[in-house]
Amino acid sequence: MWLRDSLLWLLKEKIVGADGRRDRAVRALDVGCGPGFTMELFSPFVRVKGIDSDKDMVSACQIRGLDVALGEAEEIPFEDGSFDLVYCSFLLLWVKDPLTVIKEMKRVSNRWVVCFAEPDYGGRLDYPAQLSSLAELVADDLKNDGGDPFIGRRLRSLYSQAGMNAELGVHMGIWDLDKLLEESEEELKRLESGTSAMHLIEKLEALRVARNEAHRTGSLFQFNPIFYAIGLKNP
Ligand SMILES: C[S@@+](CC[C@H](N)C(=O)[O-])C[C@H]1O[C@@H](n2cnc3c(N)ncnc32)[C@H](O)[C@@H]1O
Repeated sequence: MWLRDSLLWLLKEKIVGADGRRDRAVRALDVGCGPGFTMELFSPFVRVKGIDSDKDMVSACQIRGLDVALGEAEEIPFEDGSFDLVYCSFLLLWVKDPLTVIKEMKRVSNRWVVCFAEPDYGGRLDYPAQLSSLAELVADDLKNDGGDPFIGRRLRSLYSQAGMNAELGVHMGIWDLDKLLEESEEELKRLESGTSAMHLIEKLEALRVARNEAHRTGSLFQFNPIFYAIGLKNP
């Protein structure tokens, strides 16, 4: 949820406020809504439904009173043009065929088709230099889990193939020192839990030592680009 301010700014600046519409006049669909955090964030401003292919996610959302149903992004269970805004976040990196998903999102939208957040680990910067191998380790880990760590750079092409011009932008993924330490520790633990290879475990421990030292001296830095794309069905 570190993106929340940036996501809200996008929603209000580019969508809710764009046509001078009143709050909650926009009908929205969150595709691959997960635990529903983005739905909760947006629900004061748009009337939002969600779908997800994981029934545990659907139940978790329903328990919290969110309007969520089981559904596949590749075959969205709604009629053409059912929503004013169809959006996703951190979904395209996980799907096998992102173009089919974007086309489906366009089909059920009558106006906006928005990817609010997709990462690109190829654009990640880490400092000091000893930490630069982290981006590749994280990207490989994501690939092993079936994800596309470089989805961010493909957004323009995907929109274009789906017949839309995308307005592209990037969220400022720069954390303060303590938040960065916390996030970096989560990341190292995730990488450690995914391997039993001794050389990798030792490498990760060496990265932790370098990371702690950089935090202590106040030089630790990371930039993690998260892209967004806004398309219009009928510009
Ligand atoms: C990384 S989570 C992102 C959740 C949420 N959009 C967010 O930004 O917090 C990805 C979600 O997409 C769902 N998902 C993955 N593939 C899907 C598909 N083909 N159709 C629908 N949902 C899918 C997963 O079950 C998961 O809940």
